[in-house]
Amino acid sequence: IDQDCVEVSGRPYPRDDFTNVTPKILAKVGRDLHNQRHHPLWLIKERIKAFFYSSYMGRGGNPLFSVHDNLNPVVTTEQNFDSLLIPPDHPSRKQGDNYFLNRTTMLRAHTSAHQRELVKSGLDAFLLAGDVYRRDEIDSCHYPVFHQMEGVRLFTERQVFSNVPDSEELSLLEHSGRRTPHKQETHTLEAVKLVEFNLKQTLTRLITHLFGQDVEVRWVGCYFPFTHPSFEMEVRFQGDWLEVLGCGVMEQQLLNSGAGDKLGWAFGLGLERLAMVLYQIPDIRLFWSQDERFLTQFILDDIHQPVCFQPLSKYPPLHNDISFWLPEAGPEAEPQSFTANDFYDLVRSIGGDLVEKVTLVDEFTHPQSRRRSQCYRIIYRHMERTLSQQEVRLVHKEIEDAAEAELGVQGRY
Ligand code: PHE
Repeated sequence: IDQDCVEVSGRPYPRDDFTNVTPKILAKVGRDLHNQRHHPLWLIKERIKAFFYSSYMGRGGNPLFSVHDNLNPVVTTEQNFDSLLIPPDHPSRKQGDNYFLNRTTMLRAHTSAHQRELVKSGLDAFLLAGDVYRRDEIDSCHYPVFHQMEGVRLFTERQVFSNVPDSEELSLLEHSGRRTPHKQETHTLEAVKLVEFNLKQTLTRLITHLFGQDVEVRWVGCYFPFTHPSFEMEVRFQGDWLEVLGCGVMEQQLLNSGAGDKLGWAFGLGLERLAMVLYQIPDIRLFWSQDERFLTQFILDDIHQPVCFQPLSKYPPLHNDISFWLPEAGPEAEPQSFTANDFYDLVRSIGGDLVEKVTLVDEFTHPQSRRRSQCYRIIYRHMERTLSQQEVRLVHKEIEDAAEAELGVQGRY
């Protein structure tokens, strides 16, 4: 491909003086962690979907919210900024904060970039999960690619006032109103308060669904160009208040092409943030790990099962095999004298935390003597340092001796 183009997902984009994406970042496009079955980000996404599906049934029992998780992260700067009323001189547009393919195309910096197109397509309630890209320092909480879940819900006048008795006189919109800290110029205060209440109640229920009844949340007023009023939700975690999402009543201008007679709320939450708190994952870089010790921890039968993350060591493993003849089977009535679990317990009790994993790697029966032999592989790894061959050999020897003494096996060491 042409030197003058950047290629993303098989499509070329001409370079210009704004181009600043790097090959490392482009390599992340298409990983779609939020769509990888059993990945913790997928798991959170599924739990949020399950909450919205079970809480909001449309007419006829089908889910009210549609879910979108496959929209291209390459968007126009118009989608990412202008469509959300972000002014031309707004600091969030800086080249230093975003990944541009060129002056007019970028990797989306938030899932809000798709709000207008989905509203325009006629949807009244949707969730949207996707990877988002922001230039940032890399540390345990920041990574230039992360994932967001956006939610939008629109309401007709009937829906907003449906539970208000004698509300015939009330309306959603007014013509000569003023913008105040509580509402937009075209909104009536009573409509906004009901939509705002619905938004906060929905999100509080969502967070309670994810974290359990005891979770403490608080609302902090804030500013976004595309919502007013706007709020951040904070969750109390290990004594600190942690920001988990931004939300607000959608600016009416965003609805004007297609849904101008409705009012809407929108929220955007960070999936990594939630997963880190919920599963106690200490480092955001782990989400990109291909290490099975990380990934297998999230394989659950039921997405609502609790997970408490077991940290991984960054030091290298050492493995050592152990083979032995099993004890001869005793007289008929006697219980089986050896089980693999006896051996696993013995390894655990001697090797302790140095042992990461024990697996049966080979088994055979001697053709003449009919004796059975097994071979186990023990993987040793320390959390805080690199183990030496020598110290592993000592522990391994102890395990060999104990297996013979306690389990009646005969070592083939
Ligand atoms: N897009 C905002 C962000 O990334 C979050 C947000 C979404 C705020 C929707 C309000 C409404 O910070």
